[in-house]
Amino acid sequence: MTGTGREGALAGRVVAVTGASKGIGWAVAEALAAQGARVIGGARDVGGLSLDGSAFHPLDVTDEASVQAFAEAAVRAGVDALVNNAGVGSFAPVEEITPEEYRRVMDTNVLGTLLVTRALIPHFRERHARGAGSQVVNVTSDVSGRTFGTGALYTASKYAQRALTQALAHEGHGYGLRVTEIRPGMVDTFFADTVQGEAHKAAWLRPADVADAVLYALTAPVHARIDEVLLHPVVQEVAF
Ligand SMILES: NC(=O)c1ccc[n+]([C@@H]2O[C@H](COP(=O)([O-])OP(=O)(O)OC[C@H]3O[C@@H](n4cnc5c(N)ncnc54)[C@H](OP(=O)(O)O)[C@@H]3O)[C@@H](O)[C@H]2O)c1
Repeated sequence: MTGTGREGALAGRVVAVTGASKGIGWAVAEALAAQGARVIGGARDVGGLSLDGSAFHPLDVTDEASVQAFAEAAVRAGVDALVNNAGVGSFAPVEEITPEEYRRVMDTNVLGTLLVTRALIPHFRERHARGAGSQVVNVTSDVSGRTFGTGALYTASKYAQRALTQALAHEGHGYGLRVTEIRPGMVDTFFADTVQGEAHKAAWLRPADVADAVLYALTAPVHARIDEVLLHPVVQEVAF
């Protein structure tokens, strides 16, 4: 972030990050705090987490009461941006996908994104009424627009998250909300431990690479909106 003309752009910003306890979410939280932003981080297990000037709250994005408490803490802190990052992976052939697993994945990745966003929209509207803009950055996936064998459930959740993101961009245009979709390919995280075929993990994206993309969106000048960022490790096939 040096020499980009964006130095200092995050000082004084307050950013809510879901799934902030590890992987991409933790890297986003660390990068934001290092740039002077205040992070309001949430995950189901936030024990032992701390970053300068930031606060971590227990959050289950599938639970309305938990989301409401998290949103209230974020609003009290003066949140101006939300990073919907919490998510789970699940990879199995169609014939093996159970209704329970369907609900776990869709509830976390789709309903979770919906609930947290919805809880903050009144605050974003109120900010707009006093001339301030807001941002939502959704970490979806490169597979929010393509699929593969064993990917039915996960990619269905990511297609849905992409649709939610794009509809929000349309609606939010009316109340000063800039919405960005971050679409990473393979990233070396805890999540990736659930994926078969890990031979190239050392060459995959690092969580910090995705955090860079999130910060790029969050520090765009106020007249610019970054609609989406698609990024891959070089070892991954080119697939549009
Ligand atoms: N890794 C990849 O290759 C990759 C690629 C593209 C996109 N993504 C996306 O990136 C996002 C982050 O994934 P990651 O790779 O960083 O995974 P990760 O290392 O497993 O981290 C997932 C985070 O989400 C939190 N989380 C899970 N369920 C939650 C719930 N119900 N409520 C609140 N927080 C919850 C976890 O904390 P708790 O368990 O403590 O709640 C954790 O902080 C996901 O949306 C994923 O789909 C990942």
